[in-house]
Amino acid sequence: MNILAIETSCDETACAVVQDGTKIISNVVASSKTMHEKYGGVVPEIAAREQLKCIIPVLTEALAPLANDKQYNNTTIQQYIDAIAVTVGPGLIGSLLVGVETAKTIAFVTGKPIIPVNHVIAHMYANFVNHQQSSIPHTTYPIPFPVISLVASGAHTELYLMKSVKELTWLGGTVDDAAGECFDKCARLIGFGHGGGLAIQKAAQKIQISNFKFQIKFPRPMMNDETYNFSFSGLKTAVLREWGKRAYTSDVKDVHTSEVVQHAFAYEIQEAITDVLVEKTIRAANQYGAKSILLSGGVASNTRLREKFFTKLRSNEVTKLSLHAPPVQLCTDNAVMIAAAAYFRGQPEDWHTVSAVPDLTVET
Ligand code: KG4
Ligand code: ZN
Repeated sequence: MNILAIETSCDETACAVVQDGTKIISNVVASSKTMHEKYGGVVPEIAAREQLKCIIPVLTEALAPLANDKQYNNTTIQQYIDAIAVTVGPGLIGSLLVGVETAKTIAFVTGKPIIPVNHVIAHMYANFVNHQQSSIPHTTYPIPFPVISLVASGAHTELYLMKSVKELTWLGGTVDDAAGECFDKCARLIGFGHGGGLAIQKAAQKIQISNFKFQIKFPRPMMNDETYNFSFSGLKTAVLREWGKRAYTSDVKDVHTSEVVQHAFAYEIQEAITDVLVEKTIRAANQYGAKSILLSGGVASNTRLREKFFTKLRSNEVTKLSLHAPPVQLCTDNAVMIAAAAYFRGQPEDWHTVSAVPDLTVET
């Protein structure tokens, strides 16, 4: 079964064709990320206009491998596509509408079924797609159930129990800022602009290999409370306060020292966020007798987070758990995960009833 998937929930325009939820035939992503840099965050109006510009070229490129002359038309879809999957939420209304209306139009013209997909839930299905190779130790295929699934993206930090590929129970989520949002806001605070979690990761790697001793340890909010909820806004405030103080210390006048301090902040921020994510996920895995842990969302591409999970799985604390995380390009927003989610748990709907839902719930 070939699914054509469309994802336009934020600043990425993505289309993909995936066979049986696992085999990637095409995967195309265009991003307006750089256009938002000077504003310090995604500007919904700009994102929506870029979606409009990009959707047809991205769709054309995604369908090209199916069309003999590299020019797709309705016949290509009629012949090779079995269903259209589309992100209906959560996300920015202007961006979502572009994908949803495109998908509905294709469904209307070709008569193919349309499957609405929840973006946040879809993230975890990137783990069910066949990857050429897994660089992760402790990985068993097929994924053993029950599974504890952590979705950590720019706007969400959610934990789910998956008893099967279809059966999902939401265990907890963010009560304020998400993990990715915290990475993004802290990155901006300490001078990395729009670089987000990746900028923090790179700076933290530099300090890890130096011998710099940093005195500050940031809080690990809600790490030890008994729920599976998360909170990262207090951590951001703590970083703001310490970063402000740093301006008064004498040793940062020297450019070199100030860069080292910036990297040390990045390291400590990353340690705090990843400690909370690892601790709560492992606790849930123990409580529910999980056989696997799935990581997904942009934050799951963080190398330190993955490293901490490997270390825990090597220790006696958590044995026989299979660890899964998609390759980086399938952690951040893409349409392959939308196709996979549609294949494994989607329900086709009449195109008339499909609509964009910006605040679509992620609690199942
Ligand atoms: O899943 P995603 O692409 O978009 C949303 O659905 O939100 O996630 C984007 C988030 C951003 O907050 C970004 O800073 C974070 O993922 N991110 C990272 C890394 N790469 C992306 N966070 C930590 N380390 C990374 N290497
Ligand atoms: Zn996402």
